[in-house]
Amino acid sequence: MSRQLFVTTALPYANGKFHIGHIMEYIQADIWVRFQRMQGNQVNFVGADDAHGAPIMIAAEKAGVTPQQFVANIAAGRKEYLDGFHISFDNWSSTDSPENHELARQIYRDLKANDLIDVKTIEQFFDPEKNMFLPDRYIKGTCPKCGTADQYGDNCENCGAVYAPTDLIKPYSALSGATPVLKSSEHFFFKLSDQRCVDFLQSWTQDGKLQPEVANKVKEWFSVRTNPDGSKSEGLGDWDISRDAPYFGIEIPDAPGKYFYVWLDAPVGYLASLKNLLEKRNENFDAYMAQEGLEQHHFIGKDIVTFHTLFWPAMLKFSGRKTPDKIHVHGFLTVNNGEKMSKSRGTGLDPLKYLSLGMNPEWLRYYLAAKLNAKNEDIDFNADDFMLRVNSDLVGKFVNIASRAAKFLPHGKLVASGEAPDMRSTDLLRLVADHFDQREYAKAMREVMTFADNVNSLFDAAAPWKLVKEGHVELAAEKSSEAIQRFRVMAACLKPVMPGVATAIEQFLQCDALNFTNAAIPLTVGHQVGDYQHLMQRVTPEQLDALFELPAAPEPEKLTPGGEELAPTISIDDFTKIDLRIAKIVNCETVEGSVKLLRLTLDVGEGKTRNVFSGIASAYKPEDLIGKHTVMVANLAPRKMKFGISEGMVLAASHSDEKLQPGIYVLEPLPGAMPGMRVK
Ligand code: 2FM
Ligand code: ZN
Repeated sequence: MSRQLFVTTALPYANGKFHIGHIMEYIQADIWVRFQRMQGNQVNFVGADDAHGAPIMIAAEKAGVTPQQFVANIAAGRKEYLDGFHISFDNWSSTDSPENHELARQIYRDLKANDLIDVKTIEQFFDPEKNMFLPDRYIKGTCPKCGTADQYGDNCENCGAVYAPTDLIKPYSALSGATPVLKSSEHFFFKLSDQRCVDFLQSWTQDGKLQPEVANKVKEWFSVRTNPDGSKSEGLGDWDISRDAPYFGIEIPDAPGKYFYVWLDAPVGYLASLKNLLEKRNENFDAYMAQEGLEQHHFIGKDIVTFHTLFWPAMLKFSGRKTPDKIHVHGFLTVNNGEKMSKSRGTGLDPLKYLSLGMNPEWLRYYLAAKLNAKNEDIDFNADDFMLRVNSDLVGKFVNIASRAAKFLPHGKLVASGEAPDMRSTDLLRLVADHFDQREYAKAMREVMTFADNVNSLFDAAAPWKLVKEGHVELAAEKSSEAIQRFRVMAACLKPVMPGVATAIEQFLQCDALNFTNAAIPLTVGHQVGDYQHLMQRVTPEQLDALFELPAAPEPEKLTPGGEELAPTISIDDFTKIDLRIAKIVNCETVEGSVKLLRLTLDVGEGKTRNVFSGIASAYKPEDLIGKHTVMVANLAPRKMKFGISEGMVLAASHSDEKLQPGIYVLEPLPGAMPGMRVK
């Protein structure tokens, strides 16, 4: 009976390119998916961009485009990575898709009809300098649970705790640095504290859907919770699922100006991407989801466990939908032991750079597979270890078998089956298949490499090259045929990890597409194989040096006017926002306690004077300036400085590097200009 599998990876925020951590997660899931497909199981493997939320809205604004355009630009770059690393998603969508808008709103309506939505007026952080409610990500402070400083307002990256921004200790606005003030606003809550949710989740999280270490961690969240005032409560708290406009997200039904918090509609994106896929194929989404035995698997990182083990299953359950069957949590990937900055090798592993250097994506897939297990442990990419593993395992042990044995087949024909009581290919296939299914990839790779060691030892012991010299051509062909047959079995085992190499091997062997069933049946005696062509190159130290090379030192400064590049072009409207006026310097004095500043008293024709501080004391004595005219920015917001309030700014010229070209030059109009005249 074939299994029906619906598989996802976490949806990446659409505010940046993929990094190696994303690629690792996709490779982990893709290996599992390819294995399942090889077993004849039916898989729908989908991803999408996580498009919503304040950070994306703010980034788009900065870039001067709409959030939709911003997200589309990021999405356009995804394919290069996914194809490049042989990641076989069946669909890639976006949480801003019509399917997701509709599904998220429907789930919300269903939860509301089930009396699980509450409206509460809450006090929310407001940035008094920026004049806006602060999105969670723009409030930072100390984690109320573990005390780690500089954590975001929604969850702690150190201990994984999820809390309200108001729970943070010593909060500050990441936009302005100001201490936020509390202001009230109406918010919607998902009543996770409802006994129905608690009862459901308590059993759902402890009945084998989670890895044991994850289930244990989750258990703690049912007993202790930190309240906004720092006190502890028993059990789960309600979840704030709304945000006030302006927000890039999905509008909440019957609540104008209120949007779903991005984490409400993000996981709904799993379903929306699947729906989008099925609709393209003219299949029915509801029927698909309703089929008996359908398994829903989510691959995620350990930082987003709460969302996937509490909120998401509860949302599904109480909106009358199917809940996930397994949440597969992985650890983080560090690179070169997370070493900070090495002189010869930079940090990080840029996936596109890896590909652009012509490095084989299947090296990385193999290396990660050789390290991954079913636990949520961190793994490290180590450059030297990578080279050693790939070169010794894949080239030295595996590929080598075919390259050595192919030579001794008479006219490329197999003369033996390779079946032997002490080296049962069927045992290897069964063991490896079990490991793949359990996501114990490292164990699977070890089994294959031990098998390869044995095949190589047998081949060395038989020494076909000697046999040929001694005239035993047939025996040489027999031993070589056995090696090739076993090589084929190993190729099947490695196929989920190295689909490209496996395809090349199928071509070389002129055999059917390999799977874990047909690989157990040897190719028939007399089977004709093709010409052996080298299957895999070695990793070179030069490639690794190039991969981790620090970005080239910045080019020596180009000749630029005044030592700095021109600012980006502005429109005339931008310019007219700045109100420049002629000012008469009616008085000027030094500022006690400051070597930099002069205090200017300016007449701008307003019938009163203005007080302006200017950092020009190194260039002018007060008497040089009194009585002169100059140009000032007259509509600059007054600024409170240490020595008093500054009510504008005087214009002066200087080189960007004062050491290179010293001097500050206050502007002075040609004779005749009068105080108050506008400069335009
Ligand atoms: O942590 C993240 O990168 C989120 N964008 C993951 C969302 S997973 C799912 F819920 F969509
Ligand atoms: Zn913490």
